[in-house]
Amino acid sequence: MKEKMDWKDVRQLIGEKPIKVGLVLGSGLGRVLPLEEVKEFNYDELVGFNETSVTGHQGKLIIGSVLETKVAVLSGRTHFYENGKPDTMRGPIEFLTKIGTSHLFLTNAAGSLKQNIPTGSLMVIKDHINFSGLNPLIGEKSEERFLNLTKAYNENMIDALLLAAKQNNIEVSQGVYAWFSGPSFETPAEIQALRILGADAVGMSTVPEVILGNFFGLKVAAISVITNMAAGLSQETISHEQTKRIANSCEKKLEKLLISLLRKFK
Ligand code: HPA
Repeated sequence: MKEKMDWKDVRQLIGEKPIKVGLVLGSGLGRVLPLEEVKEFNYDELVGFNETSVTGHQGKLIIGSVLETKVAVLSGRTHFYENGKPDTMRGPIEFLTKIGTSHLFLTNAAGSLKQNIPTGSLMVIKDHINFSGLNPLIGEKSEERFLNLTKAYNENMIDALLLAAKQNNIEVSQGVYAWFSGPSFETPAEIQALRILGADAVGMSTVPEVILGNFFGLKVAAISVITNMAAGLSQETISHEQTKRIANSCEKKLEKLLISLLRKFK
C-alpha cells in the first residue's frame, strides 16, 4: 500500500506561497469555487483524514488560487454520525493549521427554524448551541481543552462575509446554529424545543469544526445554506436528496459570495 502523505509532504508539493485561508465545503457544495493552479489530494491519501461516506461530499483536499488568494479547500467533511467520533475532523483542521492556514471558513446545509430565514437563503452563523452533548476535545489532555468560546465566530470574518454579501446584492441573515448529531433528522418537538432555546437553524456538522478551529488558534466563521424548513415547519418532506438538490441550486450564489470574500484575504 502507498504510504500516506503528511502535511510536510503536501507543503513540499505546493510550494512556499502562504495559504491564509482554509475553506470547508459541506453537503452539495463541493464544486463551489473556480480554482487555478490546483493540487488535489484524496482524503485516503492523507495522514489523519477519515474517508467521507456521505453522497454529496467529495472527500478531497484541493489547494489552489482564487484570483490572488491562495486557499486550501476541504471539499466534503466527515461527520460524527459516520463513525461515532466527535473529533473526526481534528486531523484535517490540524493539517490546515500546519500548512499555515490562519483563517477558516465553514459552509454547511441547514434546516431553518424561522419563517424569515427561507429555503434557498444564506445565514451567517453568529453563535451556536451544541445540542449533541458531544465535544471534539473530549480526551484532549492539555490545558487548552478548557477553550473559551465566547467569541468562537470571529467578528472581522463575519463583517467580511456581510460586506461581500452586500457588495454582491446577496441577502444574508445572521443567526444561531444548533448542532444535532444526526443522521436522522429532528422531530417536530425537538425543533419546537430548539426554537424556545434561541436557535435559528439546525444541522449535523460545523460545531465540532468551530471548536477545533478555535482550539488550533484559527480565526473561524461559518455560513449555512438553508435547504429546508426544519421538521414540522412546512408540508415538504425533509430528505437528504432535498438537502443536496437545494444546496446545489444555491452554489452559484455561494460561489459569488466566496470569491468576493476571498479577495479580501489576499
Ligand atoms: N436538520 C438537520 N440537518 C440538516 C437539515 C435539517 O433540517 N437540513 C439540512 N441539514
